[in-house]
Amino acid sequence: MVEPLKVGLAGLGTVGSAVVRMLANSRDLLALRAGRPIELAAFCSKDPPKDKGIDLGKARKVADPVALAKDSGIDVLVELMGGEGDPAKSTVEAALGMGRPVITANKALIAKHGVSLARLAEKNGATLAFEAAVAGGIPVIKTLREGLGGAKISRVYGILNGTCNYILTRMQKESRSFADCLKEAQRLGYAEADPTFDIGGFDTAHKIAILTSLAFGTEVDAEAVHVEGIETISLADLESADQLGYRVKLLGVAQRTETGIEQRVHPTMVPKGSVIAEVDGVLNAVAIDSDAADLTLVGPGAGGPATSSAVVADLVDLACGRRSPPFGRPAANLLKPKRAPMQRHEGGYYIRLAAVDRPGTMATIAKGMAGEKISLESIVQRHPGPRPHGGDDPKSAEGPAPVILITYATTEDAVRRALAAVEREGVLAEKPQVIRIEKS
Ligand code: NDP
Ligand code: HSE
Repeated sequence: MVEPLKVGLAGLGTVGSAVVRMLANSRDLLALRAGRPIELAAFCSKDPPKDKGIDLGKARKVADPVALAKDSGIDVLVELMGGEGDPAKSTVEAALGMGRPVITANKALIAKHGVSLARLAEKNGATLAFEAAVAGGIPVIKTLREGLGGAKISRVYGILNGTCNYILTRMQKESRSFADCLKEAQRLGYAEADPTFDIGGFDTAHKIAILTSLAFGTEVDAEAVHVEGIETISLADLESADQLGYRVKLLGVAQRTETGIEQRVHPTMVPKGSVIAEVDGVLNAVAIDSDAADLTLVGPGAGGPATSSAVVADLVDLACGRRSPPFGRPAANLLKPKRAPMQRHEGGYYIRLAAVDRPGTMATIAKGMAGEKISLESIVQRHPGPRPHGGDDPKSAEGPAPVILITYATTEDAVRRALAAVEREGVLAEKPQVIRIEKS
């Protein structure tokens, strides 16, 4: 009789409940693939299990996650509570500290403490696996760590947050409000417990920090990521992007440059027709450029079923005895990353200005750009919108005129200096909107 792999599961939320369902529904298939049964032996949850809508079978409830991590009746701890601090951190440390394998979907924890946890795992001969932490159901960790083990990677980028992609897609396709689309993403189980992590770009930053480490063999450095969220993206930007041949996506990008490794998260214009531009809704996409092969993986990036598939895949690997260092090489061999300053970023830019509608404004804008040697690929001036309380005089009833500039490749520094110069001339009624353009 083959011994089952006994699982201790901490957290029975969206992902935890889906893992319980998958272990039950695919019991026979998993046993065949793993060479032995995978069984839920014990769990830890704050709410009563009867409210979860799942069958926990004969699994024991353990009151405290750290006690679960140390429980003698389990072989592996699966952490699905979330959060970079306790109880997730102390729970994972307790398991690894006694040489017990850990599987987690917790990107915040791995982005912040991944290197020290990898060291602890290695010291105690334990496995630490986190396939579900990046891009939900897309096996991107395995792809970078194993599939592209022989390739030299120059850039990894993509849509890494299902909630943001869902919001931007629904806004663009249905002209619905940001708040309305966010509520729906929360209802569907895509958003983090605190959705600021999603819309503020921090969740994407955690994920790109993890991918950077795997792609470039460096220590995870989440502090080095330049982060901007999607809160400032308006329907006007999505419409302008559409008219100019682009889509707006929240991208995480990690790239080798002459000045070091650039890690950035920001709303980005991508050309319509490119693979990334067409990835909509909760789908994620990860593109990898390397000397051997350029590839793009697309799949569901959030939600219980997709994420549980990645967690259970890690369980199957563990049950079979397949193991790799968490970041693809021993933690002691991870390099110190050299951070490329964001001011040196080079690329094209979309700039939306609210220009005061009077003679000379366009000349002032053009002078500001020329002063920084910024070449413009296109300039579009639209009719001024109505002022909110414009009065009876038709002229004074007009608000500022939207002016949209698309630049050729330039630097972040040059764009910021040019816009500061234009703002000083008093020709702008609002802060400029700047969205970077990514070559794909
Ligand atoms: P949820 O908030 O739905 O679930 C977390 C669960 O953890 C809660 O249900 C809570 O149980 C439990 N929990 C929290 N603290 C404790 C504690 N002290 N003791 C016992 N149980 C506790 O989160 P998700 O399932 O969405 O996410 C889990 C992890 O997976 C996070 O790290 C998240 O970032 C990650 N992830 C999520 C994805 C998604 O699509 N949702 C996709 C990829 C990764 P209770 O309900 O009883 O309070
Ligand atoms: N909140 C995350 C997202 C979950 O929307 O992508 C998946 O990591």
